[in-house]
Amino acid sequence: MSRDLGTDRNFLPRLHKAVHGALAAGPELNVMSAHTVGLLERTLSDLAGRGTTPVKLYDWMRRNVMVATTNTIFGPMDPFQHPANIDAWIEFETNGISALGMGLPKWMVREAVKARETLFVAFDEYFRRGGLAQASTFFQRRIEFYRAEQIPQGDINRLAVADNIAFSTNLLPTAFWLIYHIYSDPECLRLCRTELESGVTRDGESSQVISYGYIKESCPTLQAVLRESFRFHGFGFAPRVALEDHMLDGRFLIKKGGYVFTPYIVQHRDPQNWGADVDEFRFQRFLPGEDGKRLKHHPAALRGFGYGAHLCPGRHFATAELLLLCALMTLRFDLKPAGGSEWPQLSVHKSLQVAALEQPDQDVEVVFHPREGVNQNGWSVRMA
Ligand code: HEM
Repeated sequence: MSRDLGTDRNFLPRLHKAVHGALAAGPELNVMSAHTVGLLERTLSDLAGRGTTPVKLYDWMRRNVMVATTNTIFGPMDPFQHPANIDAWIEFETNGISALGMGLPKWMVREAVKARETLFVAFDEYFRRGGLAQASTFFQRRIEFYRAEQIPQGDINRLAVADNIAFSTNLLPTAFWLIYHIYSDPECLRLCRTELESGVTRDGESSQVISYGYIKESCPTLQAVLRESFRFHGFGFAPRVALEDHMLDGRFLIKKGGYVFTPYIVQHRDPQNWGADVDEFRFQRFLPGEDGKRLKHHPAALRGFGYGAHLCPGRHFATAELLLLCALMTLRFDLKPAGGSEWPQLSVHKSLQVAALEQPDQDVEVVFHPREGVNQNGWSVRMA
């Protein structure tokens, strides 16, 4: 992977060229998004059918939002449709990724290493049983590329597990924070609902449709909560290799071949970009002010999806999934902390360093209440 670094002949630029077009905005991506949101809609309809339902929010998201995503990417034979593999993923993600990435010996994280082995075996079986034939074009192209590079199948199984870090590990905390901030702030919930409700079209009693085109055009609050979640919780860092010697700021010599890590939090918490209230979560900063003008920030000041050559190729897919998930949830459900108490303040000290966003240290127990007066049947989503 380090061969021909900084040139188009390097592994990563060639992988991007061969694969990432499948995630570009357009009809192919709309099919992927529609499939994911269809699965989420079924999950929500199932919840509505059960009436008032308590869940642990982060865990619920992992078993439903992550699985809707992996099912779309890996196809109907997705290894994560089996709860035992989700459990293995949770163990590996929570206790293995950072520890092994930092080079800790395997005996210190035995359970996580065992869980990783379970996932390697699950992907091996997936490939042997022909799961790839029904996978998304994006994943098919990725695996075709690995095979063309003559990567052995055992390593492709391992790469598939590593790839799922990119597909899932940032999506989950983003989905969590969006829902947490929307529901824990009554004014935010009211604004989101008012904007969304004007876009629901009805076809008789049995069909209610919300379109992604409408959300992109006419739901500024929802989009502002997404941006503010990236700003406030986005703490990832972009690892890069210096291609030549560089004297930074006249003081620090970065040697060719040295690693440079640029933590997003530096830009995300810079008062020069965001103002004195930089340490507060305030989605309103992304809405037009009373004078109708929008906040002007430096284009590099918001790095939720990274930047430059490694800018997240899944950003259009993830944005559609997240906004539509929030739309369907806020239109159809009230969500209250279990026991009717206040939404808790959450600490984030244990967050995985490989993720781009912080994660809560504790899960939050919530209760889904189907909204009174809302017809829960026949919801669907149009991508255009
Ligand atoms: C809210 C959800 C997501 C967030 C916040 C996110 C964020 C990021 C970030 C920060 C990077 C690293 C960029 C850099 O180094 O500058 C990245 C890379 C990547 N993401 Fe995402 N991502 C999300 C969802 C997804 C999804 C759903 C997919 C797949 C469909 C995906 C596929 C990838 C891939 C393949 C890379 C590696 C790109 C490379 O190495 O050049 N991401 N993402």
